[in-house]
Amino acid sequence: MLAEKLIAQGYLSKEEYSSLLRCCTEEERLMLKARAVELRKQYYGEKVFTRGLIEFTNYCKNNCYYCGIRRENADCSRYRLTVEDILECCKEGWKLGFRTFVLQGGEDPYFTDDKMAEIIRVIKNTYQGCAITLSIGEKEKESYRMYKEAGADRYLLRHETANESHYQMLHPANMSLAKRMKCLYTLKELGYEIGAGFMVGSPGQTDEHLAEDLIFLKELSPHMVGIGPFIPHHDTAFANEAQGSLEKTLLLLSILRIILPKANLPATTALGTIHPRGRELGIEAGANVVMPNLSPVQVRKKYELYDNKICTGEEAAECAGCLQARIASIGYKIVNERGDSVAK
Ligand code: SAM
Ligand code: FES
Repeated sequence: MLAEKLIAQGYLSKEEYSSLLRCCTEEERLMLKARAVELRKQYYGEKVFTRGLIEFTNYCKNNCYYCGIRRENADCSRYRLTVEDILECCKEGWKLGFRTFVLQGGEDPYFTDDKMAEIIRVIKNTYQGCAITLSIGEKEKESYRMYKEAGADRYLLRHETANESHYQMLHPANMSLAKRMKCLYTLKELGYEIGAGFMVGSPGQTDEHLAEDLIFLKELSPHMVGIGPFIPHHDTAFANEAQGSLEKTLLLLSILRIILPKANLPATTALGTIHPRGRELGIEAGANVVMPNLSPVQVRKKYELYDNKICTGEEAAECAGCLQARIASIGYKIVNERGDSVAK
């Protein structure tokens, strides 16, 4: 049985991954889930780490076909937070016990390297001991180096798909998988904790593509892996495509926990969007991180990557309280820690 083989050796071949994904029985799924929970408890106990997400700009020079804030979406109402706004988000997050801030945005040339470095320095000086994660896309090595020297600790850059032709289907011709992968290896070399990942059920995705994702991730061995279901956005070319499946996302979370046992795995907002208990189910499948939204309420709806995104109406404190209760309800515990990777 392939599930048993995966549990025993911690990896499979491409052919084996794709047949496991294609023909996984209920018995295998439960076996993988049980092993994933065992491993997450071994490394993280009942702890759930939080990352306060600050969506600081929805301007983007890219045009990824799946994304609601891509450049050519003229109906997207654009915003940028000021440094003061960002610091206000951090203040609120710090009060709520968050020790990691994630600065996420489109690739917005307004935020030059100097501006980013300054923002990072101010946050690090004001909230000493916090960790900063950046999620601002593809940059030159020198830019990544500048942010690191300014105090950034981690970087999230989903690879999106490890298959070249699938990558081309999801992105315009000026973007390439090779460049993305190079960025990830550069970030690792510079000493960041890195995060890769992909959408589950993105248009054109096959089980073979997912198998390639798993092989690539094992090889890259990132400290974090962000996966969530693809969800269509009404103003994109993929508006009428089906959303990714809950079951498959949960199965992949369990598989990822087994192949990268120490990785930080978030139960994502997208997972919470396709099912009312999506994030809880994600934790129960092997995830150990949640990312409550710290963005100011007045901009939240504008950071619309996909339709019906949850948590766009609540204040940060409400979101944090809601998540706290959800996590407690399944026997886990949100902790006020930086949640550094144990995979160093
Ligand atoms: N610009 C940065 C980057 O490219 O890494 C960060 C922002 S980008 C919007 C963050 C992630 O959102 C992407 O890596 C992608 O996987 C996810 N995303 C975008 N559109 C989505 C959709 N329609 N459904 C689910 N996830 C989506
Ligand atoms: Fe740039 Fe989505 S296209 S953030």
